[in-house]
Amino acid sequence: MKIYAAKDYKDMSRKAANLISAQVIMKPDAVLGLATGSTPVGAYEQLREWYEKGDLDFSRIRSVNLDEYKGLSGEHDQSYRYFMNHNLFDHVNIKKENTNVPSGLAEDAEAECARYDGVIRELGGIDLQLLGIGGNGHIGFNEPCDVFEKGTHVVTLTEETRRSNARFFSSIDEVPTHALTMGIGGIMGAKKVLLLASGEAKAKALYDSCFGPVTPGVPASILQLHNDAVIIADEAALAEIREKTGWEGDVYDN
Ligand code: F6R
Repeated sequence: MKIYAAKDYKDMSRKAANLISAQVIMKPDAVLGLATGSTPVGAYEQLREWYEKGDLDFSRIRSVNLDEYKGLSGEHDQSYRYFMNHNLFDHVNIKKENTNVPSGLAEDAEAECARYDGVIRELGGIDLQLLGIGGNGHIGFNEPCDVFEKGTHVVTLTEETRRSNARFFSSIDEVPTHALTMGIGGIMGAKKVLLLASGEAKAKALYDSCFGPVTPGVPASILQLHNDAVIIADEAALAEIREKTGWEGDVYDN
């Protein structure tokens, strides 16, 4: 695990966009694993800017997103399909048919999960998987539990996650109770993983994930076993790591 310190959210976003750009330039038909939420918004904004300047070409890029709320259509403004279109896909030359997000409306959600794992397999796996982290250590919607779930699956969202995501909805009652999420096997199968963390609300989860035991109780801790996991975190998210390890530098090779 390599941890890179960023001054603030903007610096984290630019560093992340640089790594994603490098992937797009070095492998123009790369498979990007993408995430939603507040954390990657700045990185997507930066990518759009570099695309507009003519520095990036997404025409052969394929993508698979981590997750989707069960019950929301892609037109719902809180669905993750909508988020991706709005924050990235509508603004760059990626072909929509090359972008994949699990369907929140599939009648048979289990079959949709199996289909999604098939899509990832057919694409030949993920080259670079972008991740955020929940305050409880979740990645994708793999919530803390007793086992690491391997494949794409349906999850019941924890109260903590629903409360945290209620900020995007008009009330907590509107936050879906279930989601479809790529499993830990899908994430760990990516050739490279890039986890972003910003803000003090992530400081404990980030410390536990990087320095605590590898346990499904802290899903992101599994990344300690990935051989190319990169973390870019701003100073607020690094606070607990700084305090407990005494690390003062810019790069930590864990
Ligand atoms: C989003 C996702 C989630 C978020 C996490 C952090 O696709 O899979 O794991 O990355 O909940 O969310 P934010 O960035 O809103 O703090």
